[in-house]
Amino acid sequence: MKITIVGTGYVGLVTGACLAEIGHDVFCLDVDPRKIEILNGGGVPIHEPGLLELIARNRAAGRITFSTDVEASVEHGDVQFIAVGTPPDEDGSADLQYVLEAARSIGRYMNGFKVIVDKSTVPVGTAQRVQGVVAEELAKRGLAGSEAHRLSVVSNPEFLKEGAAVDDFMRPDRIIIGLDEDENGNAAREKMKRLYAPFNRNHERTIYMDVRSAEFTKYAANAMLATRISFMNEMANLADRVGADIESVRRGIGSDPRIGYHFLYAGCGYGGSCFPKDVQALIRTAAESGQNLRVLEAVEEVNHGQKEVLVKKIVGACGEDLGGKRFAVWGLAFKPNTDDMREAPSRRLIADLLARGATVVAWDPVAAEEARRVFALDLAHVPEQHARLTFASSQDDALTGADALVIVTEWTAFKAPDFAHLKKVLKAPRIFDGRNLYEPDAMAELGIDYHSIGRPHVTPANSAA
Ligand SMILES: NC(=O)c1ccc[n+]([C@@H]2O[C@H](COP(=O)([O-])OP(=O)(O)OC[C@H]3O[C@@H](n4cnc5c(N)ncnc54)[C@H](O)[C@@H]3O)[C@@H](O)[C@H]2O)c1
Repeated sequence: MKITIVGTGYVGLVTGACLAEIGHDVFCLDVDPRKIEILNGGGVPIHEPGLLELIARNRAAGRITFSTDVEASVEHGDVQFIAVGTPPDEDGSADLQYVLEAARSIGRYMNGFKVIVDKSTVPVGTAQRVQGVVAEELAKRGLAGSEAHRLSVVSNPEFLKEGAAVDDFMRPDRIIIGLDEDENGNAAREKMKRLYAPFNRNHERTIYMDVRSAEFTKYAANAMLATRISFMNEMANLADRVGADIESVRRGIGSDPRIGYHFLYAGCGYGGSCFPKDVQALIRTAAESGQNLRVLEAVEEVNHGQKEVLVKKIVGACGEDLGGKRFAVWGLAFKPNTDDMREAPSRRLIADLLARGATVVAWDPVAAEEARRVFALDLAHVPEQHARLTFASSQDDALTGADALVIVTEWTAFKAPDFAHLKKVLKAPRIFDGRNLYEPDAMAELGIDYHSIGRPHVTPANSAA
């Protein structure tokens, strides 16, 4: 089938590459010429495992192309996926300007029946707005009500996880499709069925519903996951006070099949391009319809506080004034296997350390370049603080001469470091671990002063403390 993908970000690129892989003829459009240039040069503008190889293979087979040509993109696809960003507006609601602009372009150039698929995460009612904008453009062209220019707007939210996006897309738990129960909706249903058929061979994964429910489902899913994280973070903070171990508690409750083990890790707060903005947007949608989402308001507040927990532990051990202290920070991306820095907990942590006078040497296996760009913007108003942030050339290099190591992202490379070497190169053997990567008892035996989240601090062997 002929498919167009509007937007070549994390979702658009993965969707395009995976649909090409199963045999579709895919045209990817972006308004950012830099991204298209990178893609046409054989590169990929983001870090996502397996994506580069997947795109290269499908480009060589002639199944995927990249362009900034809007008219050609609209002409190409019978199915037009909108996969552009929906960042938070000033009041927390989803900013739909990119979605509606993409819809406008489709209306401006469409040349036959089109299925328009909202893949971006969009608030309830957006499909109707997309339909309205396309109809406006058709009316401008004198094509209002034209039989040849019919359309159906489908909601097909995306559930991939950055860092495992290709796998998630190729082996989806479910495919949510929301469409209208009318003639155009029925035609769209047939096309969506054919499009996703290879994913449903083993068993049917598609769940059909009305458009509004599909739009809502995506927000409800992210809200539930964010709730589990904030719940565990709040339990971890209480465990700290009462001397319990949150890891034991996690295993104890996760064994209940009604609860399960997923998404129960305490840490230094959730970030990324989805949870923070989607929780906020759902709170906003509710407020607009006269309802307060009290659980989600608390989820957000807890997460905000959790991003300060590591700094509080550092201040507790090293004092309020961190002037003259040097911290090695491992992990900048909001989670492993991505270079995405949107709302990453490292941003608040590093800003707080710098504001308290510390020097920071940061390391991330893939996000360093993006982090440099992001911190230059974040810290532009405090150049003196920005000057105290440097980027290490290796994981080890970051440690040399540091007063402590701070771990913010759970990259695999951090899970079993050479602790003897670490002790030798750090000024003091001290670790603040925002991801609970190591065992407190083992750290104490090694003589490392180890602070983690929601687990008792064990006084290190040979310590005067
Ligand atoms: N990133 C994720 O893990 C993830 C997962 C599920 C859903 N989502 C949702 O998917 C959507 C896209 O997210 P993302 O992370 O891929 O965003 P992104 O910012 O990485 O990419 C968006 C792309 O759209 C392009 N764009 C904007 N306007 C355009 C237009 N009119 N025509 C063509 N291209 C245009 C931008 O240049 C950019 O390259 C969001 O709504 C997000 O909430 C994201």
